Amino acid sequence: MIDELQSRMDRVLREVEQEESWKFLYEPTTTAAEIEQFLSEVFLRVFWYQPHTTEAGFHMIGRLPKTEGRLLRSLLTHKAEEAEHGGWAFRDYVALGGCEKTACERKLTPACFAVAAVWWQMAEKEEPFGYLGAEYLFEELTARVCAKLVPLFHEKGVCSEKIGFIVEHATEDLKHSKLIRHWISKVETRFPHSRAAMLRCFDYFNHVYPIPVWREAYDAVLVQPKGDFGGLACSGPKAPAPYPEHI
Ligand SMILES: [Fe+2]
Repeated sequence: MIDELQSRMDRVLREVEQEESWKFLYEPTTTAAEIEQFLSEVFLRVFWYQPHTTEAGFHMIGRLPKTEGRLLRSLLTHKAEEAEHGGWAFRDYVALGGCEKTACERKLTPACFAVAAVWWQMAEKEEPFGYLGAEYLFEELTARVCAKLVPLFHEKGVCSEKIGFIVEHATEDLKHSKLIRHWISKVETRFPHSRAAMLRCFDYFNHVYPIPVWREAYDAVLVQPKGDFGGLACSGPKAPAPYPEHI
């Protein structure tokens, strides 16, 4: 099971590395300021979807068999620690010059809405052990991506104090990923039907994360904002129009 998830993770990383946004980060001509603008848009999206994935995650954990006390305690503690990470993303977004008002008042972008929707659909309809597959994508991807990007950003001169979200996740998510792997191994032997659910939930979540979110962030700041979803500035030429509540 772990081998299968690892090979899916390897594929996800290969796809990520083919993305325009990823190549942009490694481009010799890309400046620290441009990287910071892109990261600001990524952090904004984390701030937007994270409360929804957290609430849906708690809901899914709550549907696990009530006989599994140790599993429930462990996953709830982990999810509770994750709960404040949206706040870390918001802190870095603001440190990078992002507009608080935009972040707090804007409706979810399509990519963030899709992430929230997939998590709630899994939470309400899927076999709850599937949680471990989706959560593994969250933790393992962040650990692997952050470990690659921290040295690059250091080399590029990106201000490390403004990207604590990435610096902290490079080490934190290694531990979290190990924890989730531990429970996947335990659960799959005792509940064989959980295997298919974990793989399904990994794939459901991967359909909307990370590439659609990162593409939207990249487009918002560096290509052509679609639907004016950029959030970096409150005023000036890049000022985003509020996303209309009613059209
Ligand atoms: Fe984590």
